[in-house]
Amino acid sequence: MAELSDSAGPQHSSGQGSSGGGSSGGGLEPAASARLSIRRLRLRDFRNIAELSFEPAERFNVISGDNGQGKTSLLEAIYCLATTRSFRTDQVKELRREGASFARVDAELEDAGRSRSQRLTLSDEGRGVFVDEQRASRLSEYAVRTPVVVFHPGDLELTMGGASARRDLLDRVGLFSDPTLLDDRRRYRQALRERQKVLEVRGEQAPELEAYELLAARHGARLSQCRARAAAELGRAALQGFQRLAASELTLEMAYKPGGSCDEAELVAELAQRRSGDRRRHVASYGPHKDDLSLRLAGRLARKTASQGQHRILALCLKLAELEAIQQARGAHPLLLLDDVSSELDPTRIGAVHAFLRDSRSQVFVTTTRSDLFQTPGATSLERRDYRLRGGALESA
Ligand SMILES: Nc1ncnc2c1ncn2[C@@H]1O[C@H](COP(=O)(O)OP(=O)(O)O)[C@@H](O)[C@H]1O
Ligand SMILES: [Mg+2]
Repeated sequence: MAELSDSAGPQHSSGQGSSGGGSSGGGLEPAASARLSIRRLRLRDFRNIAELSFEPAERFNVISGDNGQGKTSLLEAIYCLATTRSFRTDQVKELRREGASFARVDAELEDAGRSRSQRLTLSDEGRGVFVDEQRASRLSEYAVRTPVVVFHPGDLELTMGGASARRDLLDRVGLFSDPTLLDDRRRYRQALRERQKVLEVRGEQAPELEAYELLAARHGARLSQCRARAAAELGRAALQGFQRLAASELTLEMAYKPGGSCDEAELVAELAQRRSGDRRRHVASYGPHKDDLSLRLAGRLARKTASQGQHRILALCLKLAELEAIQQARGAHPLLLLDDVSSELDPTRIGAVHAFLRDSRSQVFVTTTRSDLFQTPGATSLERRDYRLRGGALESA
């Protein structure tokens, strides 16, 4: 079976329209968004998990276990089901249990009071996705259904690492306001690749360059516009989160740093002008593939000057902002996956995360080596369930 037509990088999901419903005043208050939750989850031959089936609690699902038991794999399965992508690999093969030729993840969900099902299959032919038993042909029609946000230890890359993680963040948010983002990004990349090939094989005067540059400019400008909007949405939410989480008076500034332009004519003119340099360097020097999201703490570039503790806070703020921005755009509370987050944070921050979780209405899946670190005072047995994972098998704790 063919791969899905929209290729999103790891962590990508897509959105469709804005169904509103968010509280426009911002804040981390629960918006009038729809409830979304997994009622039953089944895995087969996913990573080290041969077979697993459980009915998650409406609000908090705390999965504890020693290292190497399959905790991250379980969250990864939920993430893959929702987005078709993993947050730790691009290789479908790695996700299938060693020796298995086929893996699947099934969920029955409740979404705004209605029941539905989703399925992901992983085989040598790639990924297959189904909604209510019907095969979905496009990612943009599938992944929008179940918004999900994951926090994992690798998130520090967001503030400490290169720009691509921040571009992915902008795209994950942007998709929920403008589902064409995925398509524009794919077409932009394609046109740019073709232009580069022509430049290097046929030279700067090749007549077909113009068509590729026009195409790259059209989709590239739209992609930039979408990212600029996503940066503004993220920025609003991140500032509020930062004030709440950071135990200091530091100011945070977030800004979209376009590598190209939101203006199609400007983009096409620059590409035409840069042919000779781009040919020499074997890469295009202008365009949204060079975008970044700049993060400044007290006026200084965070990537270069922030302390380890500040990076952690900042990464956490960006994730909370992602959750908030997607919730506003999609009009539903994204599923929230917290992988080993306790080990990454000091007790004050853990307290702040818990305060946030109490306010939010997302269904939460937490993994931890120490379930006592995750307190949810007042949660009833309907709202919280505790599990233990041992060698890929799940049992009630
Ligand atoms: N495709 C696979 N088939 C079988 N086992 C795997 C596969 N991929 C990873 N594993 C193993 O699964 C185990 C669980 O990994 P992980 O979910 O990261 O554990 P945890 O988060 O509990 O520390 C690891 O021991 C890992 O080696
Ligand atoms: Mg893990």
